[in-house]
Amino acid sequence: MASMKIGIMTGGGDAPGLNGIIEAAGRTLIEKGHEVYGVLKGFEGIFHSQAFRLDRAKLTGLHVTAGTVLGTSNRSRLDGRNQEFLDGFKKLGLNGLIVAGGDGTFRGLQHFRADIPIIGVPKTIDNDLPGTDFTFGFDTACSVVSEAVDSLKHTADAHERVFVVETMGRTAGWIALGGGLASYADVVLIPERPFSKSELKQFIVARRNAGQKSLLIVVAEGASAAGEDPVVAFRVKGSPQEERFGGAGERLARWIEDETGWEARHVVLGHLQRSRFPTTTDRFLTMGMGVLAAELAHQHRWQRAVVYRNGRIIDDDLSVVMGDARNVSANHPWIRQIQAVGNFV
Ligand code: F6P
Repeated sequence: MASMKIGIMTGGGDAPGLNGIIEAAGRTLIEKGHEVYGVLKGFEGIFHSQAFRLDRAKLTGLHVTAGTVLGTSNRSRLDGRNQEFLDGFKKLGLNGLIVAGGDGTFRGLQHFRADIPIIGVPKTIDNDLPGTDFTFGFDTACSVVSEAVDSLKHTADAHERVFVVETMGRTAGWIALGGGLASYADVVLIPERPFSKSELKQFIVARRNAGQKSLLIVVAEGASAAGEDPVVAFRVKGSPQEERFGGAGERLARWIEDETGWEARHVVLGHLQRSRFPTTTDRFLTMGMGVLAAELAHQHRWQRAVVYRNGRIIDDDLSVVMGDARNVSANHPWIRQIQAVGNFV
């Protein structure tokens, strides 16, 4: 097959594993005789036709780091600039594009199905993209949460306090649920299950009366009590989803102290969840997804998405990752397991 020029682009908020996708896809393409170009800063690199050649030396070892060597942005939108975008892509002289992105990136790209040959790799620490059972970056984010809960247990015990750990995840509870389950947190609160304040208070008081020294709570940034709104900290103009959540942990800690008299503190994990070196599980995912993305490009099988389903990395139509967000279902096994060991979710 004739050699092609293939671009790799990362879009939206970063997730641990993006560099693994770049390395695995880039090295596979080079092995197959193609030229590989890194598009800079997501959509901006297409608009301004900015890309640089990636060779084996530049790619080797990237998989270890978080972030993305290509840069990214979760503020850029197409907003009626479709022709400008297409012109920018044509100027780059690429035969196709491998895109690791989230909902905003793929929603933007859906207008170019007929014009730009694309392979999509779903990416978000939030784990809420449709069409895939897991996104890379999620496992790493969960490990940051569970390690934080494990660590905070010591100071919580020493002071006999409640600790509330606030996670990211936007309107999905996957990170809080996964991290809370892995650390056996006493309480896990997620947006999909607005909690009853009276039931939560009863649970906390019962644990204290039973002589428990400390209590660990994991709360998703988008979680709230039934009838209350999630806490929006600020808005980012120009972002595909403008609200930035933040403050759920502090609100909960103050409420617990007021209602139960048990001293409470909160910790916001924030961007630490996005900036940790990828776990082995995330490396399995990014190696498999990056290699398959490159193979699809090599075979000219464009407009495909690389997804993880039922324990296997497979490809499907690109549209599968463009649908509505995938939230935690009411009967998800992790909810049953947390409840089975006597914890609150
Ligand atoms: O979607 C990924 C995510 O990390 C969310 O969990 C979080 O709410 C948001 O991005 C934070 O965005 P920013 O990096 O713009 O603060």
